[in-house]
Amino acid sequence: MTASLEQLSAEATSALALVADPAALEQWRLGFIGPKGRVKAALAGTKDVPAEDRPAYGKRVNELSKSLEEAFKARQTALGAGGGGGVAAKGPMVDVTEPGAFYSTGEGPGRRHIIMRVREELVEVFARMGFAVADGPELEDDEHNFAKLNIPADHPARDPIDNFYIDDPTRAPRPRMFRSQTSTVQVRTMEQAVAAGGGKLREPIKVVAPGRVYRPDTVDATHLFMFHQIEGLYIDRGVSMADLKSTLLNFARAYFGPQAEVRLRPSFFPFTEPSAEVDMKIRLREDQPERWMELGGCGMVHPAVLEASGIDPEEWTGFAFGFGIERLVMGKYSVPDIRMLVENDVRFLRQV
Ligand code: DAH
Repeated sequence: MTASLEQLSAEATSALALVADPAALEQWRLGFIGPKGRVKAALAGTKDVPAEDRPAYGKRVNELSKSLEEAFKARQTALGAGGGGGVAAKGPMVDVTEPGAFYSTGEGPGRRHIIMRVREELVEVFARMGFAVADGPELEDDEHNFAKLNIPADHPARDPIDNFYIDDPTRAPRPRMFRSQTSTVQVRTMEQAVAAGGGKLREPIKVVAPGRVYRPDTVDATHLFMFHQIEGLYIDRGVSMADLKSTLLNFARAYFGPQAEVRLRPSFFPFTEPSAEVDMKIRLREDQPERWMELGGCGMVHPAVLEASGIDPEEWTGFAFGFGIERLVMGKYSVPDIRMLVENDVRFLRQV
């Protein structure tokens, strides 16, 4: 009786050798080792085997079943049809996860510029401290860039040599210009809040405003004629300089890391009183020691600025700050020259 099993084994083995694709393999499986296949039939036939031969026969059937099962799995793997819920691939296997030809140029996929990624990170850090995002136009007027920020008509900051005026700077009532600072958004936000309150501020303001600013500076390692700032404005009842400093410290630690330090140096800005320069202790290059880097300005919002936008300075106080985003990028990523941020050399962009 075991002779018929040897016959079955030989047939199954040679048939499997001829299997060339997953469909044929499935046919083989059904014919030999499936629930209605010949191995199962041989097993069912055990009862017809003379009693003295049964143990040897049963043992052989089990061995055969096991070895054909293994042979089937090996064939399945070789054909690349493993698992897959019965997907029958024809022809050579295609690895759909393999990078396409574009990537083999060595350039790889692109990504957003470091300035945009940092800008988003800054917004997120301030959002965690309760700041919403405010926006304003890049093409501004003299009123929002200067007048309502307490910068008088004869102030040197208004000099045409330092600003991109679109109109004659003396044009009445308000010449247009590309904004030279995001402080313009302070004014726009206060105006909107007062308008929304029917001529009166009714709720605190807590916003950051990231964006582009323009100044006709000669380009060098620390200057561009277009760069980015992030402005902050918090107006509430009883806001103090301590709130300002703790906000700046929280920001510095969230962005630069828990060791970051903040220093305020007395300064002057027409729209704040008192005013300070904000320095943060950072390392510009790995092989250099830490040093204090000036990131921007800050201060308590000048009462004249609140009043110019219709806010009562007896009821409300606030702080404001403005940082250069390029400087924040350079400080964190050890970029030694601001021009690298606009040259778009992929060897640089890949590193930041
Ligand atoms: N606008 C200033 C500049 O462009 C920076 C600045 C200073 C912004 C003090 C502020 C501030 O909000 O309070 O240099």
